[in-house]
Amino acid sequence: MALDDNGGTEITPAASSAVDHRPGDPGTAVIVQDAVENPGFPPHRARITDKDPRKQRRAERTIYTLFYLSIVGSIWAIAAYIAFPIESGNIADLRISTLAIGLGMTLALLAIGFGAVHWAKALMVDKEGIDIRHPVQGSDETRERSVEIFKEADQESGFGRRTLIRNSLIGALVAFPLPAIVLFRGLGPMNEDPVKLLSHTMWKKGMRLTRDPSGTPIKASDVTIGSVFHVIPEGLNDKEDALDQKAKAAVLLMRLDPKDLHPRPSRKDWAYDGIVAYSKICTHVGCPVALYEQQTHHLLCPCHQSQFDITHEARVIFGPANRPLPQLPIEVDADGYLVAQSDFHEPVGPSFWERH
Ligand code: FES
Repeated sequence: MALDDNGGTEITPAASSAVDHRPGDPGTAVIVQDAVENPGFPPHRARITDKDPRKQRRAERTIYTLFYLSIVGSIWAIAAYIAFPIESGNIADLRISTLAIGLGMTLALLAIGFGAVHWAKALMVDKEGIDIRHPVQGSDETRERSVEIFKEADQESGFGRRTLIRNSLIGALVAFPLPAIVLFRGLGPMNEDPVKLLSHTMWKKGMRLTRDPSGTPIKASDVTIGSVFHVIPEGLNDKEDALDQKAKAAVLLMRLDPKDLHPRPSRKDWAYDGIVAYSKICTHVGCPVALYEQQTHHLLCPCHQSQFDITHEARVIFGPANRPLPQLPIEVDADGYLVAQSDFHEPVGPSFWERH
């Protein structure tokens, strides 16, 4: 008998006739004395194919019929490939060929699968076995010898004795990966400050919000409660680096009942009559956050399931993202079109080391 690590419950070694277990040995199972009794296996029931030779022969017939069917399916797929050529480039030919070959291969695979499972369940020997788990540690001799080898290696190499060599080796190993880290700088733009580039988008005061991809300006009256718009800045399509700009400036626009929104006082005028605009770039690793749940007002990023609550400034309510989606302050111009009040007030997208 022995006590567990907390000094409380009495424990005993697991029963085993083959090995001499000791309490506390690594890899040795232990059970508490009042453990729930092992119910064991239910009584073995012979299968119908074990009891009735006619049923056994029938199962045998079914199995080899399935395997023959599989052969038929394979031949069918080859014949279909020859019979329905696709060289014409005609879409109808392509469809017929794909369908016919697919049916043949499906039949071939399914028939093999069903046949094999039926064989295992109905005909193969049906017996239950128990494999006792053995301790995983080596014998005492093996462990002692391992320690000896380690000590011998230390003595022979002088690793513990020659401290100057040892410490300089550790220093060299620590310094060795540093060039690879510094070389990461080469992945960023050479002539511009990457931190500045990541911190700003093309949004600015008075720039209209337009539909993605047409670039049509959006009037506040077009945005009904519950609707969502994929938005790009006005003029983005005319830019040479439109894709790069869009990767930072893409926005989702939604309209909620204004009383559902709970902005902090400093952001009260960032929305217009329940219309709010948030960066579409996920703050985890930058996927487009494109799924809007109208009932719950949650935005979902399909990449790793981060969820953002639009009613509370797009704060993270689930998933690996660790900061809210940046909000774009908006208003309407004299013609009723939605425009930005400014750029985002924080960098969009994944967090990086120079967070402002
Ligand atoms: S990129 Fe959005 S959750 Fe990972």
